[in-house]
Amino acid sequence: MHIQILGSAAGGGFPQWNCNCRNCRGVRNGSLRAQPRTQSSIALSDDGVHWILCNASPDIRTQIESFPALQPARKLRDTAIAGIVLLDSQIDHCTGLLTLREGCPHQVWCTEMVHQDLSSGFPLFNMLGHWNGGLQHNLIELDGTPFSIPACPNLRLTAIVLRSSAPPYSPHRGNPHPGDNIGLFVEDLQSGGKLFYAPGLGQVDDALLAWMRRADCLLVDGTLWRDDEMRVCEVGDKLGSEMGHLAQSGPGGMIEVLDGLSGPRKILIHINNTNPILDVDSAERAILAEHAIEVAWDGMSIQL
Ligand code: MLT
Ligand code: MN
Ligand code: ZN
Repeated sequence: MHIQILGSAAGGGFPQWNCNCRNCRGVRNGSLRAQPRTQSSIALSDDGVHWILCNASPDIRTQIESFPALQPARKLRDTAIAGIVLLDSQIDHCTGLLTLREGCPHQVWCTEMVHQDLSSGFPLFNMLGHWNGGLQHNLIELDGTPFSIPACPNLRLTAIVLRSSAPPYSPHRGNPHPGDNIGLFVEDLQSGGKLFYAPGLGQVDDALLAWMRRADCLLVDGTLWRDDEMRVCEVGDKLGSEMGHLAQSGPGGMIEVLDGLSGPRKILIHINNTNPILDVDSAERAILAEHAIEVAWDGMSIQL
């Protein structure tokens, strides 16, 4: 299985256009050793030719240009994106569908809840219906039944229901439903490689731990170092726990969770621009290294 990190930042990217926090200022003026990052998305393939896009970031255009395999140029109009999986209906994970309008119809896999959000509060399915067949919805079931995507027949995908919240424009905001937010367990039936991917992960229970333990590689929520980071950085008042993001530090935090799993490679993704781990020279980054936890970057490739 080929895994390409297209975008490793959380919503807003790094630096965020209107932000002058220590990290955003530092990466702009060069005083911080850090790499800019685009918004959350990865691509998966079983053959390196046909790719599944997991989430469609507002930065998709730049991401395609920076990863030539997605533009193989076999004919006048072409793409290697052969299927799109959405893990939630958040702006940073879906807005890229608008950019992909010239290539409609697209095959999109998502849960019923995500399909509802994207047909009401953020009606991408309705809007793109005006472009050559628009988005074709393929339902992701929540009963643990694996599914596959025809272009990558060797990849077996399973949706893992996560506890999180629907976005502000969702009709079921404040009334969480299973399927608002999923993780993906992806197994390559030929190589045997197994990935667990969850860019938005608020809580880890025993059932989820069992999936994570089976994986060779974990690509998990790295949004915040501390739960109150937005407050401490004076850029917002929401807690990570309110936004469905488990912070890395503290009791029960992501570092502690990952410490309990000895087998898999551990990589944080969907990193918010306020997170000190973006600074390569930070004490927090050194702590991650002590725990053998990596930080994803745009352009990172993983083979499983
Ligand atoms: C989130 O992950 O919490 C959201 O994507 C934040 C946002 O982009 O509005
Ligand atoms: Mn996000
Ligand atoms: Zn910032």
